[in-house]
Amino acid sequence: MSTPTLSFTHRFVPGSAPGQVPLLLLHGTGGDEADLLPLGRAVAPGAALLSPRGLEHGAPRFFRRLAEGVFDEGDLRRRADDLADFIGEAQRAYGVPAPIALGFSNGANIAAALLLLRPEVLAGAALVRAMVPLAEPPTADLGGRPVLILSGALDPIVPAANAATLARQLTAANARVEHRTLPAGHGLGQADLAALTAWFGARGAGALSPAA
Ligand code: MLT
Repeated sequence: MSTPTLSFTHRFVPGSAPGQVPLLLLHGTGGDEADLLPLGRAVAPGAALLSPRGLEHGAPRFFRRLAEGVFDEGDLRRRADDLADFIGEAQRAYGVPAPIALGFSNGANIAAALLLLRPEVLAGAALVRAMVPLAEPPTADLGGRPVLILSGALDPIVPAANAATLARQLTAANARVEHRTLPAGHGLGQADLAALTAWFGARGAGALSPAA
């Protein structure tokens, strides 16, 4: 299939398993749309994969930061809106339902912002090394959507208390949150692969809907 021109440069891999919820892959700072395709294939075999490229004033990330771990929230809100609009465009272009996000670091942070700002565009999310994206989150209703948060016990960027706050905010927004802290730093490793495979695998085709 040739890639249609949409508002984000992206890769789309059609699914081969009917009923499987598509994955929205959101890479970390310095990455691109190719980065998480192998991970997506590994943790949700047969699912369609939609993978946009984050680009913020020439920087390979999804939104602007003022310093490491300090976000430009106005920029984040605008770019979360842009990403939500892209997801809608891609759903129409490829004929797929709302995806479940799999985001790493900067990609996990914009996925967390999407859950709070535009909950209707995602069927759920797996957030690897995410932190609180918005100091004052809006009141959102995630309607029981499943959310997995994977934190690293040795992560020098995301303090444990910050990840715990994110888990509380999403739980308060009516998500079904599972928060696990792995013996890991900020990087993605084997423990993440195992946890993600188990989480996606436990749900199976069609089981990632809010009602499941
Ligand atoms: C990063 O370097 O990407 C940060 O750790 C997370 C972010 O800026 O969103």
